[in-house]
Amino acid sequence: MHSDKRKGKIGIFDSGLGGLLIMRGIVKSLAEYDYVYLGDTARVPYGNRSKRTIYQFTEEAVRYLSGKGCELIIVACNAASAQALRKIQRSFLPRWHRSVRVLGVVVPTLEEVFDIKGSRIGVLATQGTVDSSVFTKELRKINPKAKIFEQSAPLLVPLIEHDGLRWSGPILRFYIDPLLKKRIDTLVLGCTHYPVLKHTIRNMVGKGVRVISQDEIIPKKLNEYLVRHPEIEKRLHRNRGRTFIVSDMTDHFRNRARKWFGNHVTLKMVKYY
Ligand code: DGL
Repeated sequence: MHSDKRKGKIGIFDSGLGGLLIMRGIVKSLAEYDYVYLGDTARVPYGNRSKRTIYQFTEEAVRYLSGKGCELIIVACNAASAQALRKIQRSFLPRWHRSVRVLGVVVPTLEEVFDIKGSRIGVLATQGTVDSSVFTKELRKINPKAKIFEQSAPLLVPLIEHDGLRWSGPILRFYIDPLLKKRIDTLVLGCTHYPVLKHTIRNMVGKGVRVISQDEIIPKKLNEYLVRHPEIEKRLHRNRGRTFIVSDMTDHFRNRARKWFGNHVTLKMVKYY
């Protein structure tokens, strides 16, 4: 068990570098807090794995981050939010880390979709998230009349992780055309890696389709959460710390982290499982 007596940090976890985009948005609006990013770059992608494995990986990440002093952990991965979060919140935390709060990215995204009131909603996500049907099930609950079309895009995370964006055009077309044929009015990017492609996607779908990108939503929702939960907010330190931990240090991750957060950031490789 790792431990760090200095508590009060915010942990952000993803399978790889997708969560960095969420963190970038969060840090822009909530700059004063201390952040620890954890990217499981040795085992990305999660989206093609079984529910059981995604749960195991998520529990390992939450254990590690809480040992590093994170009081609040954002699971910035839709596959993990869909397949593991509920069990973490209901079974794992009450037994092992009562004071730690773990939040996901799916529910805040659904709230945003609800506010927008789309009636033909496309969801682009990894295979694991599509298999969980979380977006369809939850969107039906809040808007029973909406038509939901989920499209898995298994090649996008590997492309983004391995600096392959120059090949993304035709691949994106292949995934997005079936959704456009369904005449969607809203497109949810249900994977935290996809904001890297949001400008390309917005151009591809045109102005008639509202594209919901989690890097624009989660910071706002976290802010609201902290206002609603002053008892948690007051446990958070405000030293502007930023630490980036990965299970495998790749050049691409290092470059992205430095590009988005500055050359001075602390980057570490840790085998935490
Ligand atoms: N960023 C993760 C998500 O939001 C990607 C999952 C994966 O590793 O396939 O779902």
